[in-house]
Amino acid sequence: MEVLMSNWSNVVQSLPEKYIIPPAKRPGKLVFPVVNDVPVIDLETGEGHGRGDIIQQILHACQEFGFFQVINHGIPVSLMDDTMNVLKEFFGMSPEYKANFYSTDINSKCRIYSSTMSYDSEEVHYWRDNFTHHCHPLEDQLQLWPEKPTRYREVVGAYSVEVRKLLLRMLDLIGEGLALKLGYFDSELSKIQLLSVNYHIPCPNPSLTLGMPEHCDPNLISMLQQCSVPGLQVISNGKFTSPIHRVITHPKEARTTMGTFLIPSHDMLIQPPDTDCAGDDAPLYRGFTYQEFFTTFIKNSCDADTALEYFKNKLNI
Ligand code: OGA
Ligand code: NI
Repeated sequence: MEVLMSNWSNVVQSLPEKYIIPPAKRPGKLVFPVVNDVPVIDLETGEGHGRGDIIQQILHACQEFGFFQVINHGIPVSLMDDTMNVLKEFFGMSPEYKANFYSTDINSKCRIYSSTMSYDSEEVHYWRDNFTHHCHPLEDQLQLWPEKPTRYREVVGAYSVEVRKLLLRMLDLIGEGLALKLGYFDSELSKIQLLSVNYHIPCPNPSLTLGMPEHCDPNLISMLQQCSVPGLQVISNGKFTSPIHRVITHPKEARTTMGTFLIPSHDMLIQPPDTDCAGDDAPLYRGFTYQEFFTTFIKNSCDADTALEYFKNKLNI
């Protein structure tokens, strides 16, 4: 069978066996707490004298949940819609065209693949295709992007620039709340920008499978357009949490989401900042490169908490 599900018919009669996940992991058997009230951050009130309030709301959301919804963020709805439409069109292109971008190499800077990073070796597949490419600096990445649909580069380029601005603005607010110096995150810490687009065709049996397994996002910050679970991870002496999340499938509708991730350069040393954001607390973690962290994260089933255990300082008792 074709690997990419965006090449299948949109009406699949029954769930192929390879997509049936073990009972304990199926939707309905929730193994992590569900938060019903997603914190909402209204950025319109975030300038001027509302700024202190917004910062406190963001810090609270980062500490308690690790994610929140942003409204009045300034990205034009028309640009968000255009980008979503262009990306849907891309998934609808011919199998021959998409084959130009198919790759199982996680280091590829622009690739489409299906399920997870280990399609060929995994025991079960997940119900998604993913298209991921680098976005920053734009002029270095553009020529790797699809030329079809014809507006792809123009629209996705404009979107990437706007989302980067928004994410750096969020990180400024977070940095101010943590008493970090201005522009702390606008550095090697946010050098890499990925656009990660998930595409799920309607699923004949959503109770037996998932669109994405449980995972934490191994990024500095993630933003997700269209759906409910953005994840956020800032490595700041354990102050913030990167929530476990997963994706369930839909029986009738295809679903597309666009995630933007800011990620440190791979050789960047990650350690508590000079201005100790944890107050008088001793550093909980030793410094490590992003590469070290990412490798450990993958080896530990994309569970950030378990991966971070490897970098914990021994307590001096
Ligand atoms: C991700 C992710 C959620 C979604 O890409 O890391 O969690 O709904 N996406 O697509
Ligand atoms: Ni995620």
